[in-house]
This record gives sequence, structure tokens and C-alpha cells, in this order.
Amino acid sequence: MQLQLQTWKDVEEYLGRSHGIIVPIGSTEQHGPNGLVGTDAICAEVIARGVGEKAQALVAPTISVGMAQHHLGFAGSITLRPTTLIAVVRDTIVSLARHGFQRFYFINGHGGNIATVTAAFSEIHAESSMHPAGNRPSVKCKLRNWWESERVKALSRELYGSSEGSHATPSEVSLTWYAHPDAARPMTLDPPVAPTGSFADADDYRRNFPDGRIGSNPGLSSAEAGKRFYDVAVADIAADYAAWVRAA
Ligand code: NI
Repeated sequence: MQLQLQTWKDVEEYLGRSHGIIVPIGSTEQHGPNGLVGTDAICAEVIARGVGEKAQALVAPTISVGMAQHHLGFAGSITLRPTTLIAVVRDTIVSLARHGFQRFYFINGHGGNIATVTAAFSEIHAESSMHPAGNRPSVKCKLRNWWESERVKALSRELYGSSEGSHATPSEVSLTWYAHPDAARPMTLDPPVAPTGSFADADDYRRNFPDGRIGSNPGLSSAEAGKRFYDVAVADIAADYAAWVRAA
């Protein structure tokens, strides 16, 4: 159930039965030689929409640009500064809270967003804690990375073992090929598995990881595997969302 495909009356009616909303958040950044620039936003969005259908929950528009400064050495990458992303997350939550939404479940597609989105949640909770009237109605926020459940990690181990890596992974590339079969770019990569290591800014990243990948072999990607990741991630996250909204 996409927020953008409802009328305001539909949303009011929804608020009569639920105060929860799912917010997909990703990134627009290079994903190696055969991964799409939109990989992280596509993964978050496709899974969030699946979860929304399964859990009968509203899904907000995807926040498609994230904190990706370290990818700016590669064409097509866009970043928000951490302070800008904090403002975007905060304004999204505050806008929706005005209408009565109280439980904000962010489905994340990009590891580089975690620190900043968590800081944005702390800003929201701090404002509420410091308000003289106290924090009622209480707003609660949760960040859930789509690749995080035990079953998703087990599937990645089964299919890719140590070739999964941490950026431009075959798991995420497979998921985008499942979502957009026409964009699939099967390819043999050289070296098959990319180097691992640390990075600071964009120039440092490009020096250490010349084709954009970190520790991964996305040459192993397939749309068939992407469907398996989709099914497992949607089932696990829908169950987690339902339990969290009930309990929180
Ligand atoms: Ni990614």
C-alpha cells in the first residue's frame, strides 16, 4: 500500500486502524562494474513494498539519496551530507507525526546510512524528551537493514560464501535484477573477488577499490537468486514489523 497512491481520506481511514508506516531509505551510488547506481534505493523500495502488502501497512515514498560521500569518485553517485540527511529524515517523520503516525519503521538498503539515520532518530527522541509537555503521543522509530535477518544471511552464505563482500554484493545486485530484469548485466569480473579494507573520503575509496566493489564478486549475481532473497527478506521483515508495531 503506497502512500502516494492513496487519497488523504484513505490515509485518515488508515490512521483509524494503524499508527505505523514503513519508510524505505536507500542511496544513489556506484555499485561496481555491473551493479546499478540505484541498487540500494531499489532494494529498499522493492522489499518495503512487499512488506507493505504482506503486513497491510502504508509505505512512504522512498528516500532515494543517502549518505554516500565516499562514492563520489565514481560517476553518477550523489550524496547528502550527514546533517542534510538528518534534516530529511526528521522533517519526514515530523510531517507524518502531525497526522497521527507514531511508529516509523525504516527499511534501509545502505550501510552508509546507518550512523546518520540513527542520529536522526536520536534527534527526534531528544526533542520529545526535552519538550515541557512530555512525549505524548510518543513517536518511536526503528531502522531495519534488509540484509540483516538470519535467513537472509544464511542464504547469502549458501550461495556466495566469502564472495559476498560488503559493497556491490551479489545479494543486492541479484535483488535489483529480480526487480528490473531488463537491467541485468551478467559479467565475469577480474579479479573475481574485489579487495577488502578501509576508506575515508572519495579519493581514498577510489584508490583502494578501483572498480568500486569491496570484497565481493557480483559476477555471481542472478535474478533467480534475487527472488529467493526477496521472498525471505519480505517474510522476515513483515513479521518483525507487525510484532514491533503491536508491542512498541
Ligand atoms: Ni549497496
